[in-house]
Amino acid sequence: MIQVSNLSVWYQAINESVLALDRVSLDIPRGDIITLIGPSGSGKSTFLYVLAGIQRKYAGIVTIDGRPINPKTQRVGMILQNYGLLPWKNVRDNALLGIKIKSGPQELNDYSHYILQQLDIDTLLDRYPKELSGGQRQRVAIARAFIMKPDLLLMDEPFSALDAITREEMQALFLHIWKQNSVTTVFVTHSVDEALYLGSKIVVFSSSPGRVLEIIDNPCFQMEDLRLQDQYHSMSMRLRKILIKD
Ligand SMILES: Nc1ncnc2c1ncn2[C@@H]1O[C@H](COP(=O)(O)OP(=O)(O)OP(=O)(O)O)[C@@H](O)[C@H]1O
Ligand SMILES: [Mg+2]
Repeated sequence: MIQVSNLSVWYQAINESVLALDRVSLDIPRGDIITLIGPSGSGKSTFLYVLAGIQRKYAGIVTIDGRPINPKTQRVGMILQNYGLLPWKNVRDNALLGIKIKSGPQELNDYSHYILQQLDIDTLLDRYPKELSGGQRQRVAIARAFIMKPDLLLMDEPFSALDAITREEMQALFLHIWKQNSVTTVFVTHSVDEALYLGSKIVVFSSSPGRVLEIIDNPCFQMEDLRLQDQYHSMSMRLRKILIKD
C-alpha cells in the first residue's frame, strides 16, 4: 500500500519558487494499477519522481507499506518515454540491467526468459537498441522493469511515442503481463483512452500547481471489448469534461 498525504513539491527556479504539487493525498492499494491524467505541467512526472525517491525535497508524508520511501530497500521500476535503454548494450543486457543494479551479475533465468518470451523479444537478445523498432524498444524497457520484480512500477507516458496500432497492442500486452504479476503500478498518461483502458482507478490532476481534482473507480477496467461499450464512451465524456472545466 502506498500512502500519500498532503504532498507538496516546490522547485527552486532562478528567481522564483515553483509550486509543482499542491497537497496531493492518495492511497494506492498493493497490486493496483492506477492511471494518472492531467494537463501538461500538472506535476505528473514530479509525482513519480517523489515515489521513485529521485525528488527528495517535499512536504507531506509518503510511505510504501508503512515505511518512508527508500530506493535502497524498495524495488522501484520506472519506465520513461524515451525507454531508457543503453545504446551500447544488447537486448539481453538491457533487459537484465535493472536486476543487475539491485542484485549483482545475472544470467537469464526461467522467469526472465518467460517475460522476454511473453513480450516476444526472446529472439532479439543479441540485437542493439538501434536495430529495433520503437515498439520493440519499449518492450525491452517493459521486460527490464518486470524482470526486476519491483514493489512499485512507475510509468511516465511510456507509449506516447508509438503509433496508434502499436500503442494499442502495447497496452494490451502490458495489461496481460501486469495481470500475471499484479505489480503496484502508477501509469501517467495524457490519453483519456489509455487512462480508461489501463487504470483500475483514475486520478485526475488539475493544471499547475497539481492538485487532485478527482479519483474515479473505473467501471471500464478489464471490460471485454471495452472500446465498443457504451460505458466506455460515457466515462470518456465524463473525464474530458473534468479536464476541460479545469
Ligand atoms: N527542475 C525544475 N525547476 C523548476 N520548475 C520545474 C522543474 N521541473 C518541473 N518544473 C515545473 O513543475 C511543474 C510540474 O512539472 P512536471 O514535469 O511534473 O509536469 P507534468 O505533469 O509531468 O507535465 P507533462 O505532461 O508536460 O510531462 C511545471 O510547472 C514545470 O514547469
Ligand atoms: Mg511529465
